[in-house]
Amino acid sequence: GAPVTADISALAEGQRMVLEWRGQPIWIVRRTKAVLEALPTLDDKLRDPLSQNADQQPAYVLESNPELRSIKPEVSVLVGLCTHLGCAPEMVAEIRPEPFDADWKGGYFCPCHKSKFDMAGRVFEGVPAPTNLIVPPHHYADDNTIVIG
Ligand code: FES
Repeated sequence: GAPVTADISALAEGQRMVLEWRGQPIWIVRRTKAVLEALPTLDDKLRDPLSQNADQQPAYVLESNPELRSIKPEVSVLVGLCTHLGCAPEMVAEIRPEPFDADWKGGYFCPCHKSKFDMAGRVFEGVPAPTNLIVPPHHYADDNTIVIG
């Protein structure tokens, strides 16, 4: 399929935009500072905190900080499909201790079989999803323009 372009100039902090690429939902989220600070604190709760499974993202999103899985720290780009059986996870973007457990600091929750991912799409231990969410191939055409594909 052809590449898809996203203008993120109006994407506010904490918000997500959804587009479609190759029949898949693509999420683009501008993460808050609180989320960025929380991500490295979760590593020991995660199955693959440094995204060593190379199938789940292009290598260049790990270069600046592997815990963020993004080119720009604040802007996360993910395929919005659970890596268990492909349901659509829900975004729970706020830092909050409830309702899931004390370690939950927000992220993505799959209602089908209760898999949890953080705001970098990294999967938690002890859930059915085997791998982190996929980061699709993408690049910046300019500061506010992301090209997916
Ligand atoms: Fe998401 Fe099973 S499809 S947990």
